Amino acid sequence: MAPGTTTTVPLDEIQLSDPAFWTADRDHREATFRTLRDTPGLQFYDEWVFEDSPFAPGPGYFALARHEDVFAASRNPQLFCSGGGVNIGDLPVELNEFYGSMIAMDDPKHFRLRNLVAKGFTPKEVAKVERYVTDKAKGVVDRMLEANPSGECDFVEWIAAPLPLQIICEMMGIPASDTDQIFAWTNVILGAGDPEYGGTYENLMKVSLDIFAYAQAMGEDRRANPRDDLTSVLMAAEIDGDRLTPQEFGSFFILLVVAGNETTRNAISHGMKALTEHPDQRDLWYGDFETHTKTAVEEIVRWASPVIHFRRTATADTALSGQTIEAGQKVVLFYNSANRDERIFTDPYRFDVTRPLTPAQVGFGAGGPHFCLGANLARREITVMFDELRRRVPDLRITGEPAYLESPFINGIKRLPCAWG
Ligand code: HEM
Repeated sequence: MAPGTTTTVPLDEIQLSDPAFWTADRDHREATFRTLRDTPGLQFYDEWVFEDSPFAPGPGYFALARHEDVFAASRNPQLFCSGGGVNIGDLPVELNEFYGSMIAMDDPKHFRLRNLVAKGFTPKEVAKVERYVTDKAKGVVDRMLEANPSGECDFVEWIAAPLPLQIICEMMGIPASDTDQIFAWTNVILGAGDPEYGGTYENLMKVSLDIFAYAQAMGEDRRANPRDDLTSVLMAAEIDGDRLTPQEFGSFFILLVVAGNETTRNAISHGMKALTEHPDQRDLWYGDFETHTKTAVEEIVRWASPVIHFRRTATADTALSGQTIEAGQKVVLFYNSANRDERIFTDPYRFDVTRPLTPAQVGFGAGGPHFCLGANLARREITVMFDELRRRVPDLRITGEPAYLESPFINGIKRLPCAWG
């Protein structure tokens, strides 16, 4: 049965912590979250750890599957904080230095850092990026066409991955010769758990050290020799005499290159797949691009929900949807499920490039202090990439099944065959 009709999974068969759940077929995943949305209260699940992890699993978490609950937790940071960590499992102390960036902080520390780094996302900085997003998208399509005269290739390798990678590297001032290395590192970090990317704790640790050392060296260099890049802006940014410490810059660098790379790529891939499967929507958008772009891009992010979840920790005893939550307990905000909530979205399993902008989809977060800093950049990249594709290769289509990333965190597509002509 197609997902989103009336399919559900019995509550006692649901096990979100089993890695096999996240590799099982997608219809089963959708039906599971539908059951969770339809079941009053909240369900509690165990945590998962790497097989080779030296740590015991944590105490478990409540799963927030309804839009209303995700929204409430996201917008009440005093009661549902980020400082306890934003991944389901607690970050081992050794990894804290690398991943303890602003996404896992609360005010006033978060406010101070967000203000500092917002200097890199001012209209002036984003305008600079605008100029080269178009050039880069042209270059990406040129290369795909030149290298694949047969009229078929892997969409992720040639289209979806290179654009966000090149943009974030250019923004940060990372030399073109290092982009492949950055790509490989971010794949390991967000592919943690997928055997194809190493999938072990040891490997994650090694890559974390390498990328952190790379970032720190770059930060120190730009503090001494500023250039026209975001790293230099960030290293020079000052608020009330505060500057980013090398450690703060290192973990922010990791956050930015990972977030800038591994999310937009998947939105573009899921978007192309959805347009192939819904040719009427593709004709509508491609036929009147300007009119439909704003809603189409938001619909692609809703449809893809590239980030599946983030976690919060209750700071005091409270309740959500009638469920008592004690201080210190974890809640996990499932954006994928909130974005399919039948109570909020009319016919949520219909891909509709004209879907109204309100109620808002929550792919970039459900509001509150951590709302995606790169949302406008990501929207721009998605727009420019599809504009380039519809003008240059309007019949490009997905021709086979995707190879999905094995991850409970990122709704990733590793490979996706496509053809044109
Ligand atoms: C389609 C693409 C993207 C998606 C779906 C996405 C999704 C998200 C989500 C769900 C959050 C957490 C929101 C919250 O907790 O309320 C987030 C935060 C963040 N994102 Fe994105 N993101 C995308 C692209 C980007 C890009 C391109 C960048 C940077 C170049 C970026 C940088 C960040 C940063 C720095 C944060 C942390 C903000 C904070 O803690 O204050 N993201 N993103």
